[in-house]
Amino acid sequence: MSNPYVQDFPLLGQSVNGKRLIYLDNAATTQKPHMVIDAVRDYYSLNNATPHRGAYALSVRVTELYESARETVKDFIGAASSREVIFTKNATEAFNLLAYSYGMRTIEEGDEIVVSIAEHHSNLIPWQQVAAMKKAKLVYLYIDESGNIPDKEIKEKITSKTKIVAITHVSNVLGTVTPLKSIIHKAHSVGSIVIADLTQSVAHLKINVVDLDVDFAAFSGHKMYGPMGIGVLYGKEKYLEQMPPFLFGGDMVEYVTEQSATFAPLPQKFEGGTQNVEAAVGLAAAIRYIQKLGLDNIQKTENDLTCYALQKLSKTPYITIVGSHLAQNRTGVISFQLKDVHPHDVASILDADGISIRSGHHCAHPLMRYLNLSATSRISLCFYNTTEDIDQLAESLTHIRRWLHIGS
Ligand SMILES: Cc1ncc(COP(=O)(O)O)c(C=O)c1O
Repeated sequence: MSNPYVQDFPLLGQSVNGKRLIYLDNAATTQKPHMVIDAVRDYYSLNNATPHRGAYALSVRVTELYESARETVKDFIGAASSREVIFTKNATEAFNLLAYSYGMRTIEEGDEIVVSIAEHHSNLIPWQQVAAMKKAKLVYLYIDESGNIPDKEIKEKITSKTKIVAITHVSNVLGTVTPLKSIIHKAHSVGSIVIADLTQSVAHLKINVVDLDVDFAAFSGHKMYGPMGIGVLYGKEKYLEQMPPFLFGGDMVEYVTEQSATFAPLPQKFEGGTQNVEAAVGLAAAIRYIQKLGLDNIQKTENDLTCYALQKLSKTPYITIVGSHLAQNRTGVISFQLKDVHPHDVASILDADGISIRSGHHCAHPLMRYLNLSATSRISLCFYNTTEDIDQLAESLTHIRRWLHIGS
């Protein structure tokens, strides 16, 4: 079955090791459509200057492009105001900003910070640092065999001691969707704020931050068809207003004297230094591309594909899926094990067939330890993948053990 979206992505037509590229590592980074590549090229061909500074027409135009990219992000996630949208380098920088500017300021000895066992290191280590510095406690929500967080965990672990819940929306290892709404509801009922890691969900599920009532959220542009080097921190204005800047320097000040400085209003207060305008413009183009396809359509296409992949892998000899075998309540991130073969060998051997998958701990050491695994093989699907990609993957997987002379 031909996939109409493949032609939008120039790299998908390339070959690797003499084979058609089958790209199944979309959770690491997605490929970029022509719309994004053209937007970045046009930015440099037609518009380049520094934003917010020059009094000349080109700089004014670049400022408008940069601020219009912010508007596009704001509308995409349903934020109330563009002052609530801060451009960062990536999700990692956004979580570090929050740890320093919010966590270090508000957390006190004895407080609890709740995370899930499935956090990516970027939304875990900053909170470990805050907890260690402030003598606070890091409390974990654990998952069940299917990769889901049971209600009981939410009820029992989020308590009056909880001040921050920092939680991923979709696990980058298991693909399971966290019950964000009920976590936010519980957290607010005990006076805690919630920080959501939307990195693996924002390009796959419809998100509205006001509807969710989430206090902060972050994601990276490069995992949603945009360029690398751009991320987003969303925060409710009432919190962002009270937080001190994270990076000091040019572009984020109002007035500077020899001994002190006053800071620019939101969002510039958090955007010290010359910003990555071309990446912001590219991210806006990526969002327009997603909107052109429609998230409902993307979600349905990806869910059908995930269903197909789970069935296919379940029937492939010696393959064990890690986490849920069901296509409900999950995205197209699927971890698996091939019996007696290390995931790095699986990935290297598949590469010879032109198939790019991820192997390793996926920046989630505590989850790996909890699952009693050192590594997994991981595919992560998106709408430009096809059932043929999955058939080829399953076919190649069946040869690996024979190729390595491993008996049954
Ligand atoms: C769930 C999740 N959160 C955060 C990140 C960090 O993203 P970045 O490296 O772009 O900051 C990743 C990256 O894989 C991720 O999968």
